[in-house]
Amino acid sequence: MKKITIAIDGFSSCGKSTMAKDLAREIGYIYIDSGAMYRAVTLYSIENDIFHDGHIDAEKLKEQLKDIHISFRLNPATGRPDTYLNGVNVEDRIRTMEVSSRVSPIAALDFVRQAMVAQQQEMGKAKGIVMDGRDIGTTVFPEAELKIFVTASPEIRAQRRYDELKAKGEEASLDEILENVKQRDYIDQNREVSPLRKADDALLLDNSHLTILQQKEWLAEQFRKAIDKE
Ligand code: DC
Repeated sequence: MKKITIAIDGFSSCGKSTMAKDLAREIGYIYIDSGAMYRAVTLYSIENDIFHDGHIDAEKLKEQLKDIHISFRLNPATGRPDTYLNGVNVEDRIRTMEVSSRVSPIAALDFVRQAMVAQQQEMGKAKGIVMDGRDIGTTVFPEAELKIFVTASPEIRAQRRYDELKAKGEEASLDEILENVKQRDYIDQNREVSPLRKADDALLLDNSHLTILQQKEWLAEQFRKAIDKE
């Protein structure tokens, strides 16, 4: 069967990754979480003194970008890919509130985006890939055969993120998370390079009131339709 490219974009914490990962596993495609790549660059920046009093030393980051190697390896225990930064598994460390609250300004830097987009396009060369992010349908794979744009209300997304952190045993404040969700939405939609927007040919999915199962069925149906068109 011909393989296609699937781009899943949308707001933060709206369940994109879960649906993208599950779909990829079911149809035997590669899954790439592009947000994890921006998170890994952020973690590197935190650990290498690139943030100073909340400011980013962009020159230093630019110089060191060639030393940042990001890859994904399947975790046999979870059946999902873990993110590696320079050979070290950073899957948990890139999901902390500290990284979440600093990633948007890193992801807004044009030289960071150029480097990440080039790597993402390389990963998708052979098709058979599900990639989620913010600019996948608009910039990374504008020719993707199936594009989905996912959204849900900020309150619902904050609640989901809160539940996730709690389940992992992390301290979390719902108000703080909601503030972080809104702040990231604003930066993601208003940055100069590749702002978050729905591609004209993307299908809109508001999952505020859908169960995971309903969402899964909807996505599987869109995949079948896209394959039938090929
Ligand atoms: O999906 P996420 O929350 O893990 O993404 C982390 C950050 O990276 C978020 O602020 C948006 C940004 N991002 C981006 O700018 N472009 C992408 N393709 C993916 C994520």
